[in-house]
Amino acid sequence: METVWLNGKYMPLSEGNVSLEDRGLLFADGVYEVIAAYNGVPFILDEHLERMIRSADGIRLESPHTTDVRRQVIHDLVTRLGVSRAMIYGQLTRGSSRRSHPLPKAPTPTEYWFARELPPVVTKNYREGVHLITQPEERWARCWIKSTSLLPNVLAKQAALDVGAFDSLYVLEDGVITETSAANCYIVRDGNIFTHPANGRILGGCKRALVMELARRAGIGVHEEFIPLDQAREAEEMFITSTTLNVLPVTTLDDNPISNGRVGPITGRLMEAVGDAIREKCGEIVMA
Ligand code: PDD
Repeated sequence: METVWLNGKYMPLSEGNVSLEDRGLLFADGVYEVIAAYNGVPFILDEHLERMIRSADGIRLESPHTTDVRRQVIHDLVTRLGVSRAMIYGQLTRGSSRRSHPLPKAPTPTEYWFARELPPVVTKNYREGVHLITQPEERWARCWIKSTSLLPNVLAKQAALDVGAFDSLYVLEDGVITETSAANCYIVRDGNIFTHPANGRILGGCKRALVMELARRAGIGVHEEFIPLDQAREAEEMFITSTTLNVLPVTTLDDNPISNGRVGPITGRLMEAVGDAIREKCGEIVMA
């Protein structure tokens, strides 16, 4: 049975309810986090919990619970779930109040967390890399907030699935690539990694920060720069990262292979480095 912690109480996930006038439902007025746990150990938990506070600050929402409470709840949820690879989802909304656009003066936020087993890793994707298609960037300019307003992301993901691709890569009006619907994006050029700077056009991924750190430690140059789409098409390698995907190679962009269409050596090294970092903190785990 899956359990949810909702506003301070544990209950079966199927019994958790929120009001029809929750501002999360009415306005997508909320923020969220997704955290991975391996062997019951949440990975880079503090980074995720800090980002939740930053995102909440970004929508002028005061957190109803402390980071210590959240840490304990997440620990309890993964312990109860008792699987080796889990995903923890948390959402914090401005709560229920009479529908009206202005921010309520005294909000009663809704907060819930649940843990679920991660689906099995699709090893073929990690061996062969995945196919992205490009999409015009039509989200807002505060993508650094991990906001629940994900309709543009949902539509972009579905557009990719509709044509047999894995995800969509956003392209700004000036031709700069940013990130995919749910992952950060990188290219390799002259043996160095390039990724879009952490500004309002991307979500600063917790895995992104880790991967950049691991790359630097491995002596690989890391540059946060604007990447024009035509440069991305000429890249030596391309990959994406997120909490649940870790490092996933991209070998096709629109209808063209990236380089020779195979998983490149730097991507391979980073896949291993992230695997090692997880094993170091969470214990032995089967990676793709
Ligand atoms: N998505 N960019 C976007 C738009 C994202 O939604 C995500 C994560 C990332 C990567 O961030 P992180 O490394 O902290 O997971 C980048 C999560 C996994 C999701 O919505 O399921």
